[in-house]
Amino acid sequence: MLAIYAPLVRDTAISFELQPPTEAQMRERVGGVLERMPWLVCEEDGRVLGYACATPFRTRPAYQWTVEVTVYVHPAHSRRGIARALETALLAGLRLQGFRTALAVIALPNPASVALHEDLGFTPVGVFRAAGYKLGRWHDVGWWELALGDRTLGPKPPRELAALTALPAWQTALEKCAALVRDLPAP
Ligand SMILES: CC(C)(COP(=O)(O)OP(=O)(O)OC[C@H]1O[C@@H](n2cnc3c(N)ncnc32)[C@H](O)[C@@H]1OP(=O)(O)O)[C@@H](O)C(=O)NCCC(=O)NCCS
Repeated sequence: MLAIYAPLVRDTAISFELQPPTEAQMRERVGGVLERMPWLVCEEDGRVLGYACATPFRTRPAYQWTVEVTVYVHPAHSRRGIARALETALLAGLRLQGFRTALAVIALPNPASVALHEDLGFTPVGVFRAAGYKLGRWHDVGWWELALGDRTLGPKPPRELAALTALPAWQTALEKCAALVRDLPAP
């Protein structure tokens, strides 16, 4: 996963980190997310082709039903449906857990990510102008949102991740989404 993420940190403003995390920090991040939410990996023949995860939007408790989602795919495997598969599965899991809103925060321009998220049903919320400075210039950040469930009053706190992994519906969602990945075209 770090092999996918580190070049994006070093060479682009897609991530607003300035230094790639170390392997230990990356492990710690994965462990932290997995305390509450899914972190999904697409793997083929033992190689990681992409990953997706959700993180809490903010820590104050009234925000507990809102998450931010992100997805990264190895550039050699783009347009194989990997991001769609990963994020569709992630959103299915988040719905089953009882989260109500997913946000995608996209440094602009990023037509691939915008098209992916709008294709998944996200709608634009707005743009923060010059929200970040990296690689010698200012970058705008666009926000997209997706309702994951109804907004009935008195929502129960989202389910624990362990409760999600025990649900047959989650296993079915993972299998269905894995089937969305297309083979590499023949050379
Ligand atoms: C954005 C990214 C995750 C897309 O991954 P991917 O696996 O290539 O995407 P998919 O093959 O699942 O594409 C799903 C849909 O997204 C849209 N899409 C993906 N890449 C696109 C591109 N380059 N241009 C336009 N639309 C694109 C299309 O609608 C596509 O559906 P289609 O192939 O049926 O037309 C990938 O390019 C990436 O990792 N980019 C760098 C990291 C990044 O920007 N992450 C998002 C951070 S918010």
